[in-house]
Amino acid sequence: MKHLLKMLDLSQQEIFDILDLADKLKYQTKHGIPHPILEGKTLGMIFQKASTRTRVSFETGMHQLGGYPLFLSANDLQIGRGEPVQDTARVLSRYLDGIMIRTFAQQEVEDLASYGSIPVINGLTDFCHPCQVLADLLTIREYKDTFDGLKMCYIGDGNNMANSLIVGGLKAGMAVSVACPDDYRPDAQVMDFAAGYDCFSITSSPLEAAADADVLITDVWSSMGMEAEIEKRKIAFKGYQINDEIMAAAHADAMVMHCLPAHREEEITAKVFEAHAAEIFDEAENRLHAQKAVMVKLMSDENAG
Ligand code: CP
Ligand code: NVA
Repeated sequence: MKHLLKMLDLSQQEIFDILDLADKLKYQTKHGIPHPILEGKTLGMIFQKASTRTRVSFETGMHQLGGYPLFLSANDLQIGRGEPVQDTARVLSRYLDGIMIRTFAQQEVEDLASYGSIPVINGLTDFCHPCQVLADLLTIREYKDTFDGLKMCYIGDGNNMANSLIVGGLKAGMAVSVACPDDYRPDAQVMDFAAGYDCFSITSSPLEAAADADVLITDVWSSMGMEAEIEKRKIAFKGYQINDEIMAAAHADAMVMHCLPAHREEEITAKVFEAHAAEIFDEAENRLHAQKAVMVKLMSDENAG
C-alpha cells in the first residue's frame, strides 16, 4: 500500500491491518502511552473544501505521532491560481513526507499520487471518502465484534459516502443494501464492483433496504459543491430519511451512523440522531485512530515500501 486514494484499491487484508493498527493506537492514546512513530515527519494537508473532523483529526493525529501537520488552504497555494497539480506534486514531494488532500475531482488526487513521490491520502473527493469509511468500519467492529453475518444499509444520495461504504462494506464481509432515488445512484465503477457480490442490493425503497439491517447509515442530501441543487434535492430525497419507521424495519439492536455534518429532519430525524449519538460520536472519534493507522502504514520508516 503506497497511497490511500480509494477503497477500491485496498484488499480485505489491508483494510483489516489498518483496523488492527487503529485499535492498538487507540488503546495507546486512551492510556497515555506515547507513540511518536512519525517523529521528524511532515504531513501537508491541502483543503479545497471546508472541514471540521478531517482537519482536526489529521492535525491532532500527526501531533500525537510526533510529526508535524502543515495546513495548506488551496486559496493560499498557487494551485488556487492555476499551478498544475503535476508541478505541485513534484514540489511538495521535495519538502514533505506525505500529503492529505480534500478536493473535488478524484483525478486530481490520482495525479498528485502519480506525479509525486510521497504517499497521498484522500481526505474526500466527489467520488469517495475512504478515511471516513475506515473509521466507520472500525466503529462497526467495536460495536458488533465482527463483520460476518452483518447487513449494512445506506439510505440517501449515491455520493462519495455511498461509493466508499459499498466497497468498504462488501470488502469487509458484510451484506450491503442501498436505497437511493433512481436518478442519484452510486458511481458506475462502484456499481460494477458491487455487481460481483450476491449480498449487494439496491432499491429506491428505504423500507425495503432497511429490512433486518444491523447498521443504518445516511449522509446529507446535498454534498459540498452541490449548493446550487439544494432545493431540487430536497424534493428528490424526501422520504430518504432514517426515522422511527426505518428503525422498526431494522434489527432491534441496529446501530446508526452518520459521517457528519448532519441535517436533522432531512436525512435523519433529531430523535433517531440523539438516540444513537453514542455510535455517531464514537464514529467521529474513530477518524483520529483510523487515520493515525493510515499515516503510520504509509509514512513510517518501518512500514516503508
Ligand atoms: N465527516 C467529515 O469528513 O467531516 P468534515 O467535513 O468536518 O471533515
Ligand atoms: N457527502 C458529504 C460528506 C461530508 C463529510 C460531502 O461531500 O459534503
